[in-house]
Amino acid sequence: MQPLPGFRDFRPDDCAARNYIFARWRDVAGRYGFVEWDGPLLEPTDLYRKKSGPEIIDQLFNFIDKGEREVALRPELTPTLARVIAAHEREFKKPLKWFSIGPFFRYEKQQRGRLREHFQLNCDIIGEKKIDADVELVCLAIDVLRSFGFTENDFFVRLNERLAWADYFAKKGGDVLRVNDLYHVIDKIGRQPREITEATLEGLNMNPQDVWNFIEDPSWYSGFFAGFKNLLAERGMDRFVEFDPTIVRGLDYYTGIVFEVFDRRKKLRAIAGGGRYDNLIEQLSDGAISMPALGFAMGDVVLGELINEAAAARDQMQKAIAAGRKIDVYIVIAKEQRRADALAQIQQLRDRGYRVDYPLTAEKVGKQFQTAEDLGASLALLYGDEWPQVKVKNLATREESLIAHQALLDSVAKFFNVSASA
Ligand code: HAM
Repeated sequence: MQPLPGFRDFRPDDCAARNYIFARWRDVAGRYGFVEWDGPLLEPTDLYRKKSGPEIIDQLFNFIDKGEREVALRPELTPTLARVIAAHEREFKKPLKWFSIGPFFRYEKQQRGRLREHFQLNCDIIGEKKIDADVELVCLAIDVLRSFGFTENDFFVRLNERLAWADYFAKKGGDVLRVNDLYHVIDKIGRQPREITEATLEGLNMNPQDVWNFIEDPSWYSGFFAGFKNLLAERGMDRFVEFDPTIVRGLDYYTGIVFEVFDRRKKLRAIAGGGRYDNLIEQLSDGAISMPALGFAMGDVVLGELINEAAAARDQMQKAIAAGRKIDVYIVIAKEQRRADALAQIQQLRDRGYRVDYPLTAEKVGKQFQTAEDLGASLALLYGDEWPQVKVKNLATREESLIAHQALLDSVAKFFNVSASA
């Protein structure tokens, strides 16, 4: 039996890589003062039908539950966040800075960088309409990727202001109610044959050549972008960001600045994407609560591919995983008569927080030392003929000493205090 298409098993190495990614995500979000939250994996289908846009609706994993409710596995977090904020905003001081890490489900065609279950880091700022929040969010996305060892040679942010397209559309006589259709065509420009794009633009009464010209020379809003770049430059982050009028995002709720993060070689799908959605909370609360909001999500799939392709990032991950797996002490049981004494000691060491392992059944001493090395133990304690003394071996220096078993705990504590401060 195989897992379903687009779903993954996480064997220990995969799980270690996933935990490594989550740890970096959590760490950097914390550095920016974001607090963690989460929502349910299953939501009423209507939450997405109303708010997410056609592409995601087509990809919903939805069904009728035993109570005859139409439900869907969450394809994204933003509608849930808007629902929670609309219901509970009074409980929190603004602006809110929330992050979340969890699984998402989209019934996509399985392809490189796109699966049916993936994990996302979501970071959102609620209750701040000034551009400083947009800059902070973009910097957070950049710093998350820098924490994996990536530089501006590995990835970049493509940023745009959706309103520029809305203005352009209105000035060209477009039907304001159909502006989302324009965003969908622009969003698909790189993924769709040019004839289809042009036919769709014509269907919106747009002259395709005029649209290409606008993309080539978007001087209408170069002032906005220069301002944004200056704010980034103040923190030395402008080298990561490029202005790109073709970035509009496929989701319907965005209202302002939008951005996506790509690998520099443009070989992979988007690593992350987000933007401002100032009207979503108001729409979800039927006008009761109006609050500006912005956020982004980064997926684990493309990120994992990028880590594996960049030697420095891959080394950093492998070292971190190896360090995280290391045990402190391996107990070598050379004489089975000493097993009970060894187990008593193991219990005490584990109670004090040390990571300890030992052979569950009788094994040759040489094999036990090999296991100690494989597990990255710092110390081996050998229970054998020396009893009531125990042989302590520093596995890095190969030094050995004999310690009375009553003094072992102190001796181990001293060793780790010294090696922790070394
Ligand atoms: P999104 O662009 O749909 O945005 O997804 C964000 C990221 O999730 C993508 O850049 C990609 O890395 C990853 N991702 C999405 N779908 C898949 C998939 N099928 N397989 C693997 N990875 C995938 C959103 O979801 C917005 N809700 C983000 C946001 C948060 N906007 C405001 N706040």
